[in-house]
Amino acid sequence: MSATAPTRPVLPPDITARKGGVPLVVLTAYTTPMARLVDAHCDIALVGDSVGMVLHGMPSTLGVTLEMMILHGRAVVRGLSKAMAVIDMPFGSYEEGPAQAYRNAAQLMMETGAPAVKLEGGQHMAETIAFLTARGVPVMAHVGLTPQSVNTLGGYKVVGRDDEAARVMADAKACAAAGAFSIVLEKVPVGLAGRITAELPIPTIGIGAGVDCDGQVLVIDDMLGMFTAFRPKFVKRYAELGAAADQAIATYAEEVRRRAFPGPEHGFADQVKS
Ligand code: KIV
Repeated sequence: MSATAPTRPVLPPDITARKGGVPLVVLTAYTTPMARLVDAHCDIALVGDSVGMVLHGMPSTLGVTLEMMILHGRAVVRGLSKAMAVIDMPFGSYEEGPAQAYRNAAQLMMETGAPAVKLEGGQHMAETIAFLTARGVPVMAHVGLTPQSVNTLGGYKVVGRDDEAARVMADAKACAAAGAFSIVLEKVPVGLAGRITAELPIPTIGIGAGVDCDGQVLVIDDMLGMFTAFRPKFVKRYAELGAAADQAIATYAEEVRRRAFPGPEHGFADQVKS
């Protein structure tokens, strides 16, 4: 018999119970190898629809489909043994109303094995969040900058300065009251994010929202220096893997061209020695 107690994966109520405690650590993941790395250190692996821009070269998240989220969601869930997977609901898969949202959220959960979904939107999504949570779909909400609304917002701007602050506060409160188990605050001013965190009973997870949130999330390719198309101010690069990969590929190309690779140690003899 094992001397250690069996561990079980993190579930949404565990995340809610972390309100006000040691900050929650969240990173995006889109593949099994990255999920394994995230699993070792993080509480949540977010299969963000940022996958469209980061791995598929799309100009925004608007072209991401349910099928893409299922494919990447399955890959990530396979790589996790303790961290919780949360899957983004892509643009167009939930905005029509609660029934459409339930149908697609249930498909995401059934086909990936993830125990929760994330969707963007505040007060106008409260009815949908309540409908989903009442039917066994835990929802992580997402307010402030909501990238799926980039065209109505007019860009990837800070949301919640000056007169906008009251509306963002009301959005966050509506999501919590509707039953969201946690909420992402994206590109919300630091002071407002702190006030929302103080007033909400559920954990806030910030991205570009300051240190007072109950947790932090970054896009993994950003913080590893692999996605370099642009660099938001809120990203800290903890590694320069893009530059290291570029250097490795350049060395490989140079060695192939001058026949330095493969070396004798990489080949196979014509005869097996007796
Ligand atoms: O899609 C995503 O990666 C996200 C995070 C940036 C919060 O929604």
